Amino acid sequence: MNRWIKNWQPLLAALLVSGCSLSGPQSTLDADGPVARLQYETFLVTFWVSVAIFAVVGGMFLYALVKFRAPGGEVSRDYPLPDQGHGNPLLEIGVIFVSILLIGIVAVPTVYGVLYAGTLPEGQKALRINVTGYQWWWKFEYPELGVVTGNEAAIPVGRPVEFHVQTADVLHSFWIPRLGGKMDLTPGQDDWIWLQADKPGNYWGQCTEFCGESHAFMRMRVQAFEPEEFDKWVAGQKAVAVNTQAPAAFNKFQCGVCHTVRGVPGAAGLVGPDLTHVGSRSSIAAGIKDMTAGNLKEWIHNPNDLKPGNTMYKAGYKAMFEPMHIEMTGADEDQLVEYLMSLK
Ligand code: CUA
Repeated sequence: MNRWIKNWQPLLAALLVSGCSLSGPQSTLDADGPVARLQYETFLVTFWVSVAIFAVVGGMFLYALVKFRAPGGEVSRDYPLPDQGHGNPLLEIGVIFVSILLIGIVAVPTVYGVLYAGTLPEGQKALRINVTGYQWWWKFEYPELGVVTGNEAAIPVGRPVEFHVQTADVLHSFWIPRLGGKMDLTPGQDDWIWLQADKPGNYWGQCTEFCGESHAFMRMRVQAFEPEEFDKWVAGQKAVAVNTQAPAAFNKFQCGVCHTVRGVPGAAGLVGPDLTHVGSRSSIAAGIKDMTAGNLKEWIHNPNDLKPGNTMYKAGYKAMFEPMHIEMTGADEDQLVEYLMSLK
């Protein structure tokens, strides 16, 4: 029976919640860490309790419909209306009792899960990552390691990670479905959740609180590495940029006012993502496109096409360069693409 449930419940769940796929980069049915797994199991409890209620209530309804149906649907002398009474006190008390019992069955694992995600496991020191949400990208800071990155973070497999979330502007919500979550980013508040990956891989995440016109494009990726690989990643990210000779276009468009490229004089902006090792990332524009020269060029050419209303377009292209008649040529774009791709 258990095996049957294990094999078929995702299918049943998917049929009922049509439109969701079973696996995939952002499927909660494909849990890969202790917090996500507990949330998945809690979902199953709720799911099966709901199925039971549906089956019992629906079954009784169907039974009554068939059994007591008058021929032709008409009340007649042979099929009179049943006695119209106040009800059955014993039955009503029974229904109330069963309801309370079912709420209890759902509530106990739910409350346990909330407390579980808010209590660091003992025995292993958690890695701390400070997450800041911006319209519309993510900053990841590792205060103990001196690493700062944008939209893509790395974590070690099998070690709890303490994600402290805060927002630079409006409400956002941090969610990596296969690892667990979510946690809202509330202005002025330091909230946190711990997550852990069981195995190496790429975990995709998404902002899940409506935060403006490009909310749907506020994605992220978390890569889980074996500990030795993670240490290598940290060493790479700590280093200054491999290429500190920024091209002319980088200065022409004053990229360094908003972006940091450590090692490049004047490139210390904090408005946009840190680009020191942008070439080492797998995606651009907060996870919406894979990191390729073509996509990067498309992004630089007109960021508003990919992420409407973003700051680079609004405050840079539209508010600064357009009034000054500074135009971006194809050669400028190629220079920037080549430079950014080189920042491994
Ligand atoms: Cu940030 Cu939605």
